[in-house]
Amino acid sequence: MDNTSQILERSAELFAGKRVLLVNPTADSLTVQLPAQWHVWTWDYAVWLGLNAQLDAEHLSFSHQCPAVGELDAAVLVMPKALERAEYALAQIAPLLQAGCPLYLVGEKKGGITRAEKLMQPYAKYAEKLDSARHCQLWRAAVNGQAAQFVLAEWQKQFTLEFSDQSVELVSLPGVFSHGRLDEGSQLLLEETKPLPKGKVLDFGCGAGVLATVLARRNPGSQFELVDVDALALYCATQTLQRNGVEAEVYPSDGLSDVHGRLAAVVSNPPFHTGIKHDTSIAERFFEQVTRNLLPRGELRIVANGFLKYPALIETHIGPCQVLRENNRFKVYSAVAPG
Ligand SMILES: C[S@@+](CC[C@H](N)C(=O)[O-])C[C@H]1O[C@@H](n2cnc3c(N)ncnc32)[C@H](O)[C@@H]1O
Repeated sequence: MDNTSQILERSAELFAGKRVLLVNPTADSLTVQLPAQWHVWTWDYAVWLGLNAQLDAEHLSFSHQCPAVGELDAAVLVMPKALERAEYALAQIAPLLQAGCPLYLVGEKKGGITRAEKLMQPYAKYAEKLDSARHCQLWRAAVNGQAAQFVLAEWQKQFTLEFSDQSVELVSLPGVFSHGRLDEGSQLLLEETKPLPKGKVLDFGCGAGVLATVLARRNPGSQFELVDVDALALYCATQTLQRNGVEAEVYPSDGLSDVHGRLAAVVSNPPFHTGIKHDTSIAERFFEQVTRNLLPRGELRIVANGFLKYPALIETHIGPCQVLRENNRFKVYSAVAPG
């Protein structure tokens, strides 16, 4: 089990037999090994895939919003990697708890759990540290029952991006990539005006949907699909497409787990770190698997930090890797699958 699950298990008596909302857990055996009436909310599709054999749809929710679970005895938030995501989750969890109900926060010291007291301050008089082990801490606060109703629109950012050929209205939520601005790498990729091969185009790791929105307008004969592992990103991408009058399909996928059929092109600013550690394994797995989704002569076009050793991987799995654009930090790579 994950370290955060192990520290919860050490305090099993706090949860045994209780009706508990568990938010953002890892996909491990905690909900099986610790017998409580668990209601899990995750925004991570990989976690949903990992837990859906253990929990039925009533007890497991994959969404950008917290399910409206009533009569809770307690709630546990596993500290997300982005602090603003923790604030977003707490603003939804707190109104579900009656005054005096315990709200727990658990997480790794490196992952920001030391800010637990501050995070719980708006919802409770004081917070206490219950346990500290395996580089993790467990905190508890009794909520004051005065949390305001959660209003999604208050957490949503809307902003307009200007490109040489179009302006795009983007919608974003806390913890969605480059919340409120355009990433420099994505910008470089969008400066490349070479048309994509016509047909089905996948935006892998779509975030708020900026790549697909701009490229769909530039490639009107193509059909765009957008995938991401994060429910908040999927919600934002759907909103972005709608506001810009672009039609495309948006669905969850962990890597290419749910992408079926062959594509004329795949575009991406691939994720290169998960959690606290730098990690390129998702991108590596993506290069390895994307070949089976590319049509002959299908193009993979990505942007990445220039220091990442992607060209060799791309050449191993797809074909000769060309640099379309570069600046002092990023490179836009293109590779075409064998015909
Ligand atoms: C660098 S961001 C790019 C976002 C957006 N395309 C842009 O250009 O602004 C990478 C995206 O990949 C998503 N991601 C991370 N791991 C993933 C996975 N295993 N499967 C699919 N998407 C993933 C992240 O949630 C994030 O939205």
